[in-house]
Amino acid sequence: MVAKKLRTVAVLTSGGDAPGMNAAIRAVVRTALGNGLNVRGIRRGYEGLLAEDIIDLSARDVSDTIQRGGTILYTARCPEMFQKEGVQEAAAIIKKYEIDGLVVIGGDGSYRGALALSKLGVNVIGIPGTIDLDIPCTEYTIGFDTAVNTAMEAIDKIRDTSTSHERCSIIEVMGRGAGYLALWCGIGNGAEKILMPEEQDFNEAAIIDDIAECRKRGKKNYIIINAESIGDSTNMAKRIEKATGISTRATILGHMQRGGSPTCRDRVYASTMGAFAVKVLLEGRRNRIICYNKGEFMDMDIDEALNATKPFPDFQYKIAQDLAL
Ligand code: F6P
Repeated sequence: MVAKKLRTVAVLTSGGDAPGMNAAIRAVVRTALGNGLNVRGIRRGYEGLLAEDIIDLSARDVSDTIQRGGTILYTARCPEMFQKEGVQEAAAIIKKYEIDGLVVIGGDGSYRGALALSKLGVNVIGIPGTIDLDIPCTEYTIGFDTAVNTAMEAIDKIRDTSTSHERCSIIEVMGRGAGYLALWCGIGNGAEKILMPEEQDFNEAAIIDDIAECRKRGKKNYIIINAESIGDSTNMAKRIEKATGISTRATILGHMQRGGSPTCRDRVYASTMGAFAVKVLLEGRRNRIICYNKGEFMDMDIDEALNATKPFPDFQYKIAQDLAL
């Protein structure tokens, strides 16, 4: 089969936004324009694609965006893309707008939509964008670095007041079904306990004993980082306070973790991935996910990427426990 000449590239962001997405969009737009391609932006992810909310993008449209959190293209979660009819309609719209390559910036859910489109002949390139770091084919996802630093700074502040009041603090972080944000904050903030889905066997009675034990050893506070998929932080705080007699507060960090200006790492890696995605299209490769592994940017077949597994770093969890002496 003779490959169709690449003329028009489109880009969309899908699922939860992540700081650094704008840097990736900017890199896609400018790399494509620099190589003589037309660039379209699809607003509100697949939802906007189905609504044909498609705009032309120029180099100036992405000026002054690299430092901004969120996504200038807006984003949405689109259940229609899990239905055959939705995918068929989306593929027909892509054909109608003569889009030869679609760059999807988002997480695993967004890749499932991309995979379905690829089966209908659409050439899709995925860029990992999620604060959760829960995409198995890559060690880096756009937004995690910023989100984990935002959470870490917030937890440092909570620690100050927790120490002053000699309290126990439970801080709930995002991460959907994964514990990467919790693990990194646990180590980075020097928490006493990390509760996360990959280490489900935690025992509240044992934590209560440990809090009392730590108090006897002179610890002035006790920080528990709780992954949102464990949840129940507010009730847990009440139970701990009742059992230990130590004043305990719960803080749910929530969506503030998803906002804010991206870190330098997120800007640089997102820019690299955006440019890399266009390079892959220019080189004629089809249906790939851009990844970062073992210090290198690379691309992987979308099927293979969706079947990849990433072992959880249990040794780091163990280190966190050892350091909470
Ligand atoms: O996937 C990113 C994320 O922020 C998760 O950590 C969280 O579970 C979810 O999105 C929240 O989604 P929403 O913004 O739809 O409430």
